[in-house]
Order: sequence, then structure tokens, then C-alpha cells
Amino acid sequence: MKNIRTNIFNPVSPDQVDYLPDHVLSIDNGKITQICSFSDFHGSWEDQRSCICLPGFIDLHVHLSQYRIRGLYHPALLPWLDSSVFPEEQKSLSEAYATALSRDFFSALIKAGTTFSVIYTAPFREAAEAAFEVAHDMGAKAKIGMTMMDRNAPQGLLQTTGYAISNSIRLHEKWNSESLSYIFTPRFAPTCSAELMREVADYAKSHDAFIQTHLSENPDEMAWVKEIFGKSSYTEVYESLGILGPRSILGHAIHLSDPEMDVLSSSGSSIAHCPDSNFYLKSGEFPLSRVKAHNIPFGLGSDVGAGTSLNMLYHAKQMNFRQNTDPVLPSEMLYRISLANAKILHLDHRMGSLDIGKDADILFFRIPDGLYLGEHSLSQLCFSSEDFLLAKVLVDGVNRLGS
Ligand code: GUN
Ligand code: FE
Repeated sequence: MKNIRTNIFNPVSPDQVDYLPDHVLSIDNGKITQICSFSDFHGSWEDQRSCICLPGFIDLHVHLSQYRIRGLYHPALLPWLDSSVFPEEQKSLSEAYATALSRDFFSALIKAGTTFSVIYTAPFREAAEAAFEVAHDMGAKAKIGMTMMDRNAPQGLLQTTGYAISNSIRLHEKWNSESLSYIFTPRFAPTCSAELMREVADYAKSHDAFIQTHLSENPDEMAWVKEIFGKSSYTEVYESLGILGPRSILGHAIHLSDPEMDVLSSSGSSIAHCPDSNFYLKSGEFPLSRVKAHNIPFGLGSDVGAGTSLNMLYHAKQMNFRQNTDPVLPSEMLYRISLANAKILHLDHRMGSLDIGKDADILFFRIPDGLYLGEHSLSQLCFSSEDFLLAKVLVDGVNRLGS
């Protein structure tokens, strides 16, 4: 049992964050067991009054196998995949390489305050298996997928449909806890056959499994999809194959018509919005107000390696900065890297906010010298996060920072 005296910011909705100054947060057996005002508390406590305390961050879209090529610039998606991404992903065929990379990656996630992530690896069983083993060893929580590509990929990365499906199913059967589970990961329509996507969709539906892929990120990609599938829209390709649904997460989804948004909305699919990546690759501006008007659930992803950082506060700031006219308030910036993502993952009974019964995945940020504590501290954290020291990262109640 541990009692921590601190100042809590708890996300509730895009418009609401609860501020609980000078409260005591109690943790037992990895769970939050009590949150009460210090004036009502009796007992011993650890002093974190110089910190603000938030739920662990959730990264909804990140490519582990691209971690070492972050910042390796190319100004457009398809040439970047060919020149930077595919040669690097090829290296994760080596289990030793994939294991060392996974160790670096999960250590860096903790240093950034990310306590749950939704991961693409490379198109090799070895890459996904290494990521799972390392996550398990390090107590990291994630959904992890082996990226699937059974057409239009370079020789060394190209899978047979059978390899992609059978290894994914094996991984899905092996890693099946709420803390660490498999997510089916057809990379995107251009590198996946209709047969592969249909099999993934059918299996995922009958096993309540999650699917992630990319959708309408870049005009050249969209033209390629049109050329291959001949459908009236990119969204229709996924819809017709059964890829959409309440356990489907679509990366980017920038260039969508209103009818496509209606389809996403009625299917219950979610979007992983990756604002940093969208401007890095000059993919375009996320249609924020239209996505909201269509009631499509969305949250933030770093999209490393097209994203340049694992720091979700940085991406929350980019969400604001990468809208020309729509302001994004701090309450929403926090929500989109915590509770929104937990809901999309159907894990909001376990994480996403600081509530009794949830996992004790908790961050403590020290207020910089010269700034004073108050309700405004969240805004200062969101816009000037580099001034705040991340002092402690609890995962299931255990401090993982520095370990
Ligand atoms: N579309 C297909 N693959 C990728 C990828 O690895 N990164 C991004 N940003 N978009 C993609
Ligand atoms: Fe991506």
C-alpha cells in the first residue's frame, strides 16, 4: 500500500479535466484504491506536492521497427517508405537486432511517459515475437502487430498470404492478456491483397480481435489504391473487405469525403490522428472539425518513425499547432493522449484516467522553478512540456523510470 500526496489532473472528456489539488492517491497491488483530499486523509504519505500528476500516456499508432530512422527525412510518403523505411524494417528479420531495438524502444517509451502503446513492427514473425518478449520482460503494456504485406513490397519484405495469416493467428493466440495482446496489422491497401484483408477481417470479427492499418494519408497513395482496387473510395476498399468496425484503428485518415466519414462513423471505426507525421511528410491537415461533426472516435499517435518523437505531450501540442483555424484546448490535448485512446482500445476500465479500480499507470511532472502551481499548470505542461521534469512513471504501481 502506497499513499502519494500530490496535485491531480484527471481527464474526463475533450472539454473537461478535473483538477484535484493537494490530494492523496492510494495504490495497492498495482491498482488505484483511493483518491481523497489531503484534509480528509489519515496515515503516512509520500510527498509529491511539487509535482502535477496525470494518467500514463497512450500512443495509438507507432512503428517500433522504424524507431532508429526517426528524423531521416523525405518529404513524401511513398518515396520515404522505399528509401528509408523498408531497408530499416528488413533488419528486424534478425531476432537479435529486433530484440536490441525493442529494448531501446520500450525504455524510451517509459522516459516519455507512455505506459501503453499500439505498435506496428516489421513483416517478420521474429520482429513481433521479439517485441512481445521484451515488453513482457520490461513490464510494458501494448498491442503489438506483425506488419502484413503480401503484394507490392520489396522482395526481402514480401510475405506469402499464408505466412502473414498463420503467423498473425499464432501470435494472437499466444499473446492474449489485456496488458499485452496482438493487433492484426495489414500495413495498408496497396501492399495487401484483397484475400489477405478479407481473411484478417473474418478472423478478427469472429475472435473480437483488433485491426490497425493506414487510410487516406497521401494523394499518391490514394491514386495507387484507386488503380489497384478501382473502388470509388479508399474507405470503400476497407469497408467492402470487412476491415472496418469498432475494433479497427485507421492511421491518418486525412483526405476523406463526407460519405467516407459517414461509413467510418456508422461502422464504429476509430482514427489514429498523427499530426506531426502529417506535416513531416507533407501529407496534409487533419479535418478535425469534420471528424468531430461525424462523431468518429479519434486519438493521438506519434507515428514514429514518420513522427519525430515518442513524447505524446509534443504530439498533443502538434495537434493544436497543426490546425490553421480550430483551437485545441489543454483539456482536449490531455484527453486525446489518455482517455480517448483507452476508450478506442476498449480498455477504459483499466486505464486512461486516474480513477479507483484502474491500473496505477501514473506520471509525476515536477513544476519548473519560478512557475506556480494551479489549474493553469496543465496548460503550461501542454505547451511548454520541455520545462517540466518527468520525475516518476508508475506502471501498475511500480516506478519504471530509471529501471
Ligand atoms: N503507410 C503505409 N506504411 C506506412 C508507414 O510505415 N508509415 C506511415 N506514416 N504511413 C504508412
Ligand atoms: Fe504509420
